[in-house]
Amino acid sequence: MFISFEGLDGCGKTTQAAMLAAALELEGRTVVRVREPGGTPIGERIRELLLDGDSVIGGAAEALLYAAARAQLVDQVILPALARGEVVVADRFIDSSLAYQGVARGLGLEQVLQANELATGGLMPDITLLLELPPELAAARRGDTPPDRIESESDGFHAAVAEGFAAAAARFPERIHVVDASGPPRAVLARVREAANL
Ligand code: TYD
Repeated sequence: MFISFEGLDGCGKTTQAAMLAAALELEGRTVVRVREPGGTPIGERIRELLLDGDSVIGGAAEALLYAAARAQLVDQVILPALARGEVVVADRFIDSSLAYQGVARGLGLEQVLQANELATGGLMPDITLLLELPPELAAARRGDTPPDRIESESDGFHAAVAEGFAAAAARFPERIHVVDASGPPRAVLARVREAANL
């Protein structure tokens, strides 16, 4: 089973992915956790390029670099784990590209989907949990850590990303479950498990 978590920077995806993975492991499942961009040697190098504040990257190159990191992760990690019957829990996957590059950068959902078709060979998560938090709350949760190239974008950009996630949820209503990410992590986890029926 392939589960992805999506949402704005600061929405609590990483915490929820870790908590869900731990809960499934307690129940005897073998869980492989991945994060994007990254998770493979090439993917980590692409991550450095993408998040480096000194990089100047056009929208198309940005979308293709995320897709390249994803292609490597699908090939080297996700497909082999799924073939072994394991659960894959991903901290971001294709919907981040739809929201950030497709909508916030303005490339369009369909174009970004097409670029990703090559990267993933058509692999989609079975279930996606979209953690929803108002952009200003997500920004506050990001706290004092120095922002990376994407995090330092304007409030308007992050508002567009939130719209992008809503557009992805409308495009894939069966797969994407929107979960209220406010409140304590345990309460959010309960909502996640209920939404995903896990
Ligand atoms: P990361 O530090 O992993 O962010 P977070 O911990 O919030 O998930 O950095 C990933 C950044 O890359 C994040 O700002 C979102 C952005 N991103 C895209 O723009 N497109 C994508 O396809 C992916 C996977 C991430």
